[in-house]
Amino acid sequence: MNAVEIKPGIYWVGAIDWAIRDFHGYITPDGTTYNNYLVMDEEITLIDTVKLDFAETTIKNISNITDPSAIKNIIINHIENDHVTSLGRIMELTPDATIYITEKGRKGLERFFDISSWNISTVKTGDTLNIGKRNLLFIETAMLHWPDSMMTYIKEDRILVSQDGFGQHLASASRFDDEFIESESEHKLDEAVIDYYANILMPFGNLIKSRIGEIQDLGIEIEIIAPDHGIIWRKNTAGIIKRYLDMANGAADMRVAIIYDTMWQSTGIMTTPLVQGIRDEGVDCSVIKLRATPASVAIKEFWRSRGVLIGTPTLNNKMFPSVAGFLHQLAGLRPKNRIAGAFGSYGWGGGAVKEAYESLKAMKLEVFEPGVESLYRPSPEDEGRCYDFGRAFAREVKEYHSRFKQ
Ligand code: FEO
Repeated sequence: MNAVEIKPGIYWVGAIDWAIRDFHGYITPDGTTYNNYLVMDEEITLIDTVKLDFAETTIKNISNITDPSAIKNIIINHIENDHVTSLGRIMELTPDATIYITEKGRKGLERFFDISSWNISTVKTGDTLNIGKRNLLFIETAMLHWPDSMMTYIKEDRILVSQDGFGQHLASASRFDDEFIESESEHKLDEAVIDYYANILMPFGNLIKSRIGEIQDLGIEIEIIAPDHGIIWRKNTAGIIKRYLDMANGAADMRVAIIYDTMWQSTGIMTTPLVQGIRDEGVDCSVIKLRATPASVAIKEFWRSRGVLIGTPTLNNKMFPSVAGFLHQLAGLRPKNRIAGAFGSYGWGGGAVKEAYESLKAMKLEVFEPGVESLYRPSPEDEGRCYDFGRAFAREVKEYHSRFKQ
């Protein structure tokens, strides 16, 4: 797709990756984009680059606006592979350009490229760069989501280039939120925001609050938020900031995600009366079978729900491997503000449900116990106990949810 002018003299020159489905293990059913921006001023400035596979795409987009050799400044907000690996190719075209990057970013850049002949200027929060009619303000956002991360604010145009922050993995011909909502839907956009936040930013809620607070303390007016993935926010800029603050404060829907796996369908059978019990308390519910569902989708369902029930058969006195793997991944995301329970089946001896509870408690999640277990195939009595457990858990979810201001 050709360059798109997002404000007079400022262009999106990125690439749309329609085909990617596995983004370092995070499943992206809607593809993604790698966004970068060209600012045409007295000193032509490129903000960010793209994944190496798309180097020629961004070079072509830049070339439609200007000769790439005319680029004087390159801002590198983040050095993860999807944003920096084409920098070497661009530097071949404009070897005298100056790169502006954080100190930690500069150190990381050495691992990607021989930077000995490059002009590099390290920047920190509050530093500015005059490029002619415009001034750029740099804002470090360390650990959002890497130590090197920063954002760049184009003062005169009130554009915040927010690198991964406020992004979404969505390949679309639409470049802006209002266009996307018109051609697709607001719901699909919000689902992409939740998915991205849950899988990438969940561990950093407190940092997100402080960094947004710091940006607000700078007193800058933000008209457009231009992330490095997905659509650009120009209609609902305030809304996406609020959405992030809400998620950082633990926002969730009053619903339950049942995330389980099953060997011979015994644990699977238990989900049916659980769903009925939860629904009979008026709480919505979704059911995710792990080996049938990418882990990143299960993570998103977990994150959007106030309550989660983990279902696991016992295998050799342990949790089923796919369930153990999911909980291991979830623990790394440091989840908060969710209530959890567990259920499962066993043959000769149990152990999996107990182990699931240990794992949930180690994450410091609120737990509702005891869970419910079934020996071999669930009997009608077992199914009755599952129904009662589902109802009781749903009541707990409602009570727990009431503690959070939405
Ligand atoms: Fe889109 Fe942290 O890379």
